[in-house]
Amino acid sequence: MNPLKHVAIIMDGNGRWGLKYKNSRNEGHRAGLKTVEKIIKQSIKNKIKFLTLYAFSTENWKRPKKEVEFLFTLLENFLESKIDDLNKKNIRLKIIGTKNFTKKINKLIKLSEKKTYNNKRLQINLALNYGSKSEIINAFKLIKKENKNINIKTLDKYLQTKDIPDPDILIRTGNTKRLSNFLLWQIAYTEIFFEKKLWPAFNEVDYNKIIKNYKRIKRNFGNI
Ligand code: IPE
Ligand code: IPE
Ligand code: MG
Repeated sequence: MNPLKHVAIIMDGNGRWGLKYKNSRNEGHRAGLKTVEKIIKQSIKNKIKFLTLYAFSTENWKRPKKEVEFLFTLLENFLESKIDDLNKKNIRLKIIGTKNFTKKINKLIKLSEKKTYNNKRLQINLALNYGSKSEIINAFKLIKKENKNINIKTLDKYLQTKDIPDPDILIRTGNTKRLSNFLLWQIAYTEIFFEKKLWPAFNEVDYNKIIKNYKRIKRNFGNI
C-alpha cells in the first residue's frame, strides 16, 4: 500500500454548479467552501499531512470584477471566522502564490499564517494568486541572484513549496482534464485523478474512493 502524505486539489466547477442549482455562480463558490471543510476533516481522518488547495489562479483575475470581489470576500470571512477553529485543530495554514491583495487581506493572511505556524497535524497550502510558471521563473531569478548552482535540489528549495513533499495525489473536479498552471514542476510523479463531479457536489465518499484507489497503484518512478 502506498503511503499518502500530500493531496493537491484543483477545486473546479463552482460556477457551473451555482448556475445550475442557484442561478448564481457566486452561490456555487459559497457552496464550494462547504466541500473544503468536508475535505479538511476527511484529510485529518486519513492522516494526510499536506493538503494543497487551488483557490485562485494568476489567470483568474480575468474574471468579472464582481466575481473576483465575491471570492475575496468569501476568503476574508473564512479566515476571520475559521482560523481559531483551524488553530484549535492543530492545523497550519500556509499561502502559496503572490501575496499582493488588499491591505486588509494581506494582514489577515499574515496573521493566520503566524497564528498556526507551529501546528503539526495537517498543513493546508492555500494557493491564492498562484501560477506555476511565475513560481518557477521567480525561483530561477532568485537562484541567479544568489549565484547558486542550478539543479533539481536547488530549484525545489527555491519554489514556494520548499519543505513540502511533492503531491502523491492530484485531484481535479469539474470534468475537465487540464492542469491550469498548477504545480507543474511538483507533479512530475503524482497520481492524477480527474473527477466528473463539480466541486460543490464532491464529498467524503468520492474522496475516500480516490484515496483507496491511489493506495493500490503500482508507483514505479521509472523503475519496474
Ligand atoms: C473553481 O470553480 C473556483 C475558482 C476558479 C475560483 P470555477 O469558478 O472555475 O467553476 P466553473 O469551472 O466556472 O464551473
Ligand atoms: C483552475 O480553475 C483554478 C482554480 C480552481 C482556482 P479554472 O476554472 O480557473 O481553470 P480554467 O480556466 O478552466 O482552465
Ligand atoms: Mg473553472
